[in-house]
Amino acid sequence: MKITMVGTGYVGLVTGTCFADTGNRVVCVDVDQEKIFRLQRGDIPIYEPGLAELVHQNMKHRRLSFTTRLVEAVPGSDFVFIAVGTPQGEDGSADLSNLWAVVDQLAPVLEPQTVVVIKSTVPVGTNAQVTRRLEEKLGRRVDVASNPEFLKEGSALEDCIKPDRVVVGVRREEVGRRLRRLYAPFLRTDRPFLVMSPESAEMTKYAANAMLATKISFINEMANLCQALGADINDVRRGIGHDARIGFAFLFPGLGYGGSCFPKDVRALQAMARQLGLQPRILEAVDQVNQQQKRVLLDAVHEELGEDLSGHKVAVWGLSFKPRTDDIREAPSLVVVDHLLRHGAQVQAHDPVALENVRRHFAKHPRQANLSLHEDPYEALCGADLLVICTEWKEFQHPDLELMRRQMRRPIICDGRNLYEPELMAEAGFVYHSIGRAPVRPR
Ligand SMILES: NC(=O)c1ccc[n+]([C@@H]2O[C@H](COP(=O)([O-])OP(=O)(O)OC[C@H]3O[C@@H](n4cnc5c(N)ncnc54)[C@H](O)[C@@H]3O)[C@@H](O)[C@H]2O)c1
Repeated sequence: MKITMVGTGYVGLVTGTCFADTGNRVVCVDVDQEKIFRLQRGDIPIYEPGLAELVHQNMKHRRLSFTTRLVEAVPGSDFVFIAVGTPQGEDGSADLSNLWAVVDQLAPVLEPQTVVVIKSTVPVGTNAQVTRRLEEKLGRRVDVASNPEFLKEGSALEDCIKPDRVVVGVRREEVGRRLRRLYAPFLRTDRPFLVMSPESAEMTKYAANAMLATKISFINEMANLCQALGADINDVRRGIGHDARIGFAFLFPGLGYGGSCFPKDVRALQAMARQLGLQPRILEAVDQVNQQQKRVLLDAVHEELGEDLSGHKVAVWGLSFKPRTDDIREAPSLVVVDHLLRHGAQVQAHDPVALENVRRHFAKHPRQANLSLHEDPYEALCGADLLVICTEWKEFQHPDLELMRRQMRRPIICDGRNLYEPELMAEAGFVYHSIGRAPVRPR
C-alpha cells in the first residue's frame, strides 16, 4: 500500500516508520524544512529508543522517504494520514489551524480511492467537519476516518507494533476493512481492532487521556494528604494497588503530568463541555491539582534554603517530561527551573537527552545566564546546596551516593519522583524530601 503521512513529529514519524517496516511505501510530509532536510540525511530530529535504526533500514530499502511537498506525495496514496500538531488554543480548546491547512492543501490532489485518516487528537465532530469541507470542495463522496493514536513517547515503537488496541472511527464498513488490512501485521497476537463511529473514536482518545490524567492527579492528592496526615503514600499506594479493582498502573505520586498530550487534552475536553453548557468538574479539578503539583517541592526548597535563593546553587536532575524522551513540552521541570531562576538561584541542570531542547526553551529567559546545562549528572552537583529530581530516568535509580555527597556543598535532595528509600538516604547522610512521605534528616 502507499501511504502519505502528513506531519512528521513524534506520532507521524513513528507510525509512518512502522507502516514502512511492514512493507508499505510511506512518504512523510512536513512543513518544517529543517526537519525534513535532517531526515533526508538520516538524522533523526527526536529521541525515541530504537527509532533511528528502523528509519535508516526503511530508507535504505526505499520504503520510507521525506518531503515538504504534500501535492507531490499524495497522488496514488491508499491512505493519507494527518498527524499534525493540535496544540492548545488561547481559550483552552484545541487549535486546529494545522489540520485545516492540510485539509485545504489536500483537496485539489485527493483521488477517489484515497482514504483520509485523522490521527491527530481532535475535538469530537472534527471528522464530520473535515468530511463536509472536502466533499463540498470536491463535489463527491470522500472517505474520512478517525484513527486516534495511543502511543507513549519513550516506548512509541513498541506501542505502535504491539498496540493494546487499535481504534478506528468510520462511516462505511469498507473503510474499516481497509484499515484493518493495513493494521493486520500489528494485530497478529489477537489485539483488538475496534470499529466505531468517528465521534466515538475521537471521544475515546480524550476519555483515555482524561482517565490517565485523573489517576495521576488522584494519587498526587492522596500523597499530599498522606504527608499532612503522617501517612506514607508508598505504603498506601501498595495497599490500594493490590486491589484488583484499582491496580498499580499510573498511580505513582510525583510532580504531576506534563507532555504534549495530557495537559492540552484535559483542557480541550473541558472546552468541549463548556461549549455545550456543561461543567466538567472532575476535569477542572484534575488540571488544578496538576498545576499545583508541579510546585509541591518548591516549598521544601525554600524551607531548606530560605525565600531568597541568590547565592545558592541548585542542581536539577531530569528535564524531559518523562524518561526515555527528549520532549519537554509542559514538563514539571520547566516550572521548577523557572521558579529557581526567578528566586535568584544558580541552576545546574542535567538530563540524559533533553539538554538541547531545554537550552532553546530558556534561551530568552531573563535569568538565562544563571542556568548551566551538564551532560554529566555528577558535574551538575558540583558545589550544589540542594538537588531537585524532576524525572525518573533509570540511571538515577542507583546513583553513587558517596560521590554525590562529596560533590554537593550541602547534602539536600528534593525528590519529585520518590526514587529512594527515605531511611537509606538518612543513613547515607542526606536531608531527603519526597512526595507524600515525611522528610528525613541524617542520623
Ligand atoms: N506525542 C505523543 O505522544 C502523542 C500521542 C498520541 C497522540 N498524539 C497527537 O498526535 C498529534 C501530533 O502530535 P506530535 O506529538 O507528533 O506533534 P509534533 O509537534 O511532534 O509534530 C507535529 C508535526 O506536524 C507538522 N506540521 C504542522 N503543520 C503542518 C502542515 N500544515 N503540514 C505538514 N506538517 C505540519 C509540524 O511541523 C510537526 O513536525 C497531536 O494531535 C497529538 O495530540 C501525540
